[in-house]
Amino acid sequence: MYKFSMAMVAGMALLAGVAHAAPVPALYTAQQANAGSGIYAQNCAMCHGADLQGSAAPALAGQRFAPAGGSTTLGGVFRIIARQMPASAPGSLSHAQYEDVMAYILKNNGYSAGSTPLAYSVSLTSTQPLAAQVK
Ligand code: HEC
Repeated sequence: MYKFSMAMVAGMALLAGVAHAAPVPALYTAQQANAGSGIYAQNCAMCHGADLQGSAAPALAGQRFAPAGGSTTLGGVFRIIARQMPASAPGSLSHAQYEDVMAYILKNNGYSAGSTPLAYSVSLTSTQPLAAQVK
């Protein structure tokens, strides 16, 4: 009985959370994020850290990157990546590679994968707000 009521409380808390929080959209596919992992390791990790924690360059995950209630957008981040990154060779990756690495960054910020792939041209102008779902 104790276990049951604790589950009820947890369930109600979860429902309340869902009711109040804005829905978090699915912006990429799992396949893109998986591919992005290797692309990140080869082209970004040396400056941004193996776990996106930041080192020579800023963190790409968490509240320092995309704070809750901040003004970060998908388009704003994607334009920097596609036009200025890697800082050592801007624009040197393919469109698909930029899509994949953006998907990997979204995954590491707590966004879930969905069925619609993240697309290069749409993402450049996207006003979709981004807020890290992780600390
Ligand atoms: C040679 C080092 C280097 C590499 C490699 C590199 N970056 Fe950067 N990146 C930087 C620096 C330095 C900044 C900060 C620039 C500034 O503040 O003007 C930055 C900024 C960024 C930003 C903006 C962060 C913010 O909070 O404003 C993003 C996003 C980003 N990089 C993504 C990437 C991705 C994705 C890759 C790999 C494709 C990559 N970077 C590769 C050095 C690098």
